[in-house]
Parts: sequence; C-alpha cells; structure tokens
Amino acid sequence: MKTYILLPRMKRGMLPEEFQDDDVRSAEFLLEYFIEHFTQPGDTVFDPFAGFGTTLLVAERMKRIPFGIEADERRYGYTRSKLTMKDNIILGDSRKLDTFPLPNIDFVFTSPIFMGCDETKNPLSGFKEYGTYQVYLDQIQDIFRKLDAFLNPAARVVVEVYNLAPRDGRPMTLLAWDMTYAISKVLRFEKEIIACWQGVDDENTGETPMGVGYDHHYCLVFVKD
Ligand SMILES: C[S@@+](CC[C@H](N)C(=O)[O-])C[C@H]1O[C@@H](n2cnc3c(N)ncnc32)[C@H](O)[C@@H]1O
Repeated sequence: MKTYILLPRMKRGMLPEEFQDDDVRSAEFLLEYFIEHFTQPGDTVFDPFAGFGTTLLVAERMKRIPFGIEADERRYGYTRSKLTMKDNIILGDSRKLDTFPLPNIDFVFTSPIFMGCDETKNPLSGFKEYGTYQVYLDQIQDIFRKLDAFLNPAARVVVEVYNLAPRDGRPMTLLAWDMTYAISKVLRFEKEIIACWQGVDDENTGETPMGVGYDHHYCLVFVKD
C-alpha cells in the first residue's frame, strides 16, 4: 500500500439544500480505496462519527455491512433515509459507545468532529459543554478505547484528519499529530497515508474540499493487536 494517494477533483452528488453550507462529507474515493484494501464482502464496517453517512453508504454499496453512530438528529435522519439497512445507524453520542448494541467490527473509517486548540466549547457535546482542547483529546481517546472492545483481531481503524491552519489571528492546531498521539495510547499506530487533492487549490487559497488551506489530509491507520 502506498503511503500517499492522489485524489481526483471531487465529483459527488449534492446534499439537500438545507445541508449544502455544511458539507463535511469525506470523499467517496477514499472510502472505496480503504474498504477495498482492508475488507472483504460481508465484513462489518463502522463509523462512530457517521455524519452524512459516506462510510456507511459506500460500505453498503460494496456489499459490506455498515454500522454507525451520529449525534446530530438531522444528519442521522438523512443517512438513515439513504441506507437500505436503516437500523444500522444509531442516533447517539459516541462517548457512550460501550452502551450501544454494536456487532464485532472488521473495519473502521471515521473523521471525528474537529476542535481548534483555542476553543472552549467541546464539539463532542454539540458545542453545549465547556471543555478545553485537552478534554476533547481525552474524550477522543476514550471513544477509541471503548471501540477497541468491539474490534475483531487485526481490524484496521482509519482516522481522516488534518492540521488546522492558522487563520483570522487564531493559532495553528496540530490536530493530526495530537490525535495520532491520543489514539496511539489505546490502538497500535501502524502508519499514515497522505491523501492529496489534485487540481483543487493550486494557489493554496483555502478553497480545498474542507476549506482549511491545505490540499492534503492524513489517513491515520491503527490496528487492533
Ligand atoms: C466530520 S463529520 C463526519 C462526516 C462524515 N465522514 C461524512 O462523510 O459525512 C463529524 C460528525 O461527527 C458528529 N458528532 C460530533 N460529536 C459526536 C458524538 N459525540 N457522537 C457521535 N457523533 C458526533 C457530527 O455531528 C458530525 O456529523
């Protein structure tokens, strides 16, 4: 497996109008690439931050069994409406992952909600609770610790993340490094694979798919020992 992937300019279906300003979806190409590489038809594929369901929908299309958790009711409703296995997405908080009826899991692909190091509202609570960046990282670590109990031996866990560029006077957040470190305490870190978006933002203006000033993401690969 190469340690970088060149991704074509993204083409994908539009979300309904109500979600279009908030399109945080992962690229389907990334999902196809990792699901093909790390799973077989019939395997269970899980995303604890399911969002608009890219992981689940691509997995289902590729004849894997999708499972996911999403805290936002509207996104949950959208994903559920698109899935054939509608009951395989749970509306809930992944911080309570150990309380949900999950199966044994063969593969995880997820992109957690991100937090800047200068923020004080914890995004894992829907921005309702006060929480420092360290609290956020501790809770991310705890989610993956809970996830570990459901993983089959040698299951891979891929976390898509990027560092948050400094902007509008705000500091840079080394989220990719910090998340690697936090999760590596509970799952063995195997390698990072860099996903580069081609032809999207040649001047690095910030108009990347995620609008962060970079044209690459990190796909952190962890493995269940
Ligand atoms: C970056 S988005 C994931 C997007 C997804 N990969 C897709 O393609 O649509 C992160 C998601 O995590 C959800 N989320 C945030 N905190 C959560 C929590 N504590 N438990 C479950 N989901 C959560 C957010 O509502 C958001 O939809």
